[in-house]
Amino acid sequence: MLCCVFFLSIRRVRPVTVAADSKAAAGLPQHWDWRNVNGVNFVSPVRNQAQCGSCYSFATMGMLEARVRIQTNNTQQPVFSPQQVVSCSQYSQGCDGGFPYLIGKYIQDFGIVEEDCFPYTGSDSPCNLPAKCTKYYASDYHYVGGFYGGCSESAMMLELVKNGPMGVALEVYPDFMNYKEGIYHHTGLRDANNPFELTNHAVLLVGYGQCHKTGEKYWIVKNSWGSGWGENGFFRIRRGTDECAIESIAVAATPIPKL
Ligand SMILES: *[C@@H]1O[C@H](CO)[C@@H](O)[C@H](O)[C@H]1NC(C)=O
Repeated sequence: MLCCVFFLSIRRVRPVTVAADSKAAAGLPQHWDWRNVNGVNFVSPVRNQAQCGSCYSFATMGMLEARVRIQTNNTQQPVFSPQQVVSCSQYSQGCDGGFPYLIGKYIQDFGIVEEDCFPYTGSDSPCNLPAKCTKYYASDYHYVGGFYGGCSESAMMLELVKNGPMGVALEVYPDFMNYKEGIYHHTGLRDANNPFELTNHAVLLVGYGQCHKTGEKYWIVKNSWGSGWGENGFFRIRRGTDECAIESIAVAATPIPKL
């Protein structure tokens, strides 16, 4: 159960952007789940990063996998190689961690092969990338909300429904390790005057909703700790309150499917 990104994120430096996004987001459905869009699933299977701090790579692969499925109406369902990023990317630190935004850049610059070509070992193995494998590239990568610090609940909802799942980061506290089901929230207080927030884990945002009984809003998130963890490998977390900084630094990339 390793976490893997260590950086400071910042949010809400431009309230004007947030206000515009918030207006647009008001027209979105109350509930959205890419695992079930009119009965169709667009999210690839949950995986397990094991004892390697590669969450940033799994989060990014999961995003590209879901987005290829969405773009092709499930006619293409590649599973990408998180190991390629761990072993080969100069923009990250292998099993010691990395930053999903820069993995978007890596995919745009170098492309990514499928799992079969470079299977996951969960270690800092050498970059033995077979030349024969097909590579997929990204046409774009960006911070959700438009810029570093521009993230918000509304910007994430708009990006999600329009373009598909995206990488998000959060700070994992010890109580999160015991999560079984339900809408997670951490009770720790934070300094309201400090705009910087800590995050140490990257995961994939796939949906949002609201509890009928309590009115509590939540995100639906895919983790990379195996399908036995949480709600079949997923978790829900409180939405609208920047819970554990999960609304502070979402990133998106656009894969280019095969012709
Ligand atoms: C997408 O695929 C489904 C079957 O899985 C099909 O019913 C639907 O018509 C397809 N949509 C388009 C736009 O091709």
